[in-house]
Amino acid sequence: MRTLIDIVEMQSMADGLRKQGNRIGFVPTMGFFHEGHLSLMRKAKELSDVVVVSLFVNPAQFGPGEDFEEYPRDEERDSMLAMKNGCDVLFVPGVEGMYPKGYATYVQVNDLSTVLCGASRPGHFQGVTTVVTKLFNIVKPHVAIFGQKDAQQAIIIRRIAEDLNYGVDIVIAPIVRESDGLAMSSRNMYLNRKERAEAVVLHQSLLEAEKLIAAGERRAHVIREAMKSLITAKDSARIDYVSILDADTLQPLDLLQGRILIALAVRFGKARLIDNTIMTC
Ligand code: PAJ
Repeated sequence: MRTLIDIVEMQSMADGLRKQGNRIGFVPTMGFFHEGHLSLMRKAKELSDVVVVSLFVNPAQFGPGEDFEEYPRDEERDSMLAMKNGCDVLFVPGVEGMYPKGYATYVQVNDLSTVLCGASRPGHFQGVTTVVTKLFNIVKPHVAIFGQKDAQQAIIIRRIAEDLNYGVDIVIAPIVRESDGLAMSSRNMYLNRKERAEAVVLHQSLLEAEKLIAAGERRAHVIREAMKSLITAKDSARIDYVSILDADTLQPLDLLQGRILIALAVRFGKARLIDNTIMTC
């Protein structure tokens, strides 16, 4: 595995790989790897000849007062895990390289970016779509793998890739969970013992929703109330949103029909955790 820091060097390596007929698979990340990240790398290996993983904690997607400074970092451990999981090139650009003095260009997807996490984290998705655009221009992948864990991010990336003709296949891989059901996240390390135990309710509330739907319930408000009462029963939980939406347009639904996304964001202490499920009704 090679580790590159320099943007121009990464670009010329990507050009060379493409010229030799290689298919480049790309996994963008902010590091502090867990099994969720590693599953994307293994998926990339299946779908391509050369796997590039980027590790960049992107300041543009953190709002003022959010956890950019405290975001967990461990490049040495990440590097080892990436190597063991099929990564051929680890790309670790610096903030000064990605956003040099005078940087002024941002990429924005309308509508999809202002609901759910976009409502409570204004500017977040503009930061994501901007950095992903830059990374695509640097790594020049044929295929890029994202996780279903960040459902709204996945939908927005698909939209931007199609709208702006990126020519990159976007593949969405399933959510990887801890044995008790908690979705893996770099931010789980913020949880204290009690919060960690209570955070399992996110997955449990999604399972409850799936059960109600399987039993024939189609009224969104009934399902949302059932989920909310499970969550608020936990001391340390503070709900940001519990939403039931059309899985493609992210329009909220009153009655469930077609492909639906049930998504939630809940704070436990200083951790803001998200989870979701997609169902067809
Ligand atoms: P990060 O949170 O590091 O996540 C990197 C990728 O791993 C994302 O595609 C995310 O959806 C996926 N992922 C995280 N947890 C997962 C889990 N439990 N199961 C499956 N996949 C999981 O998402 C970002 O970074 C950034 O916004 C980024 C796209 C890199 C842009 O900065």
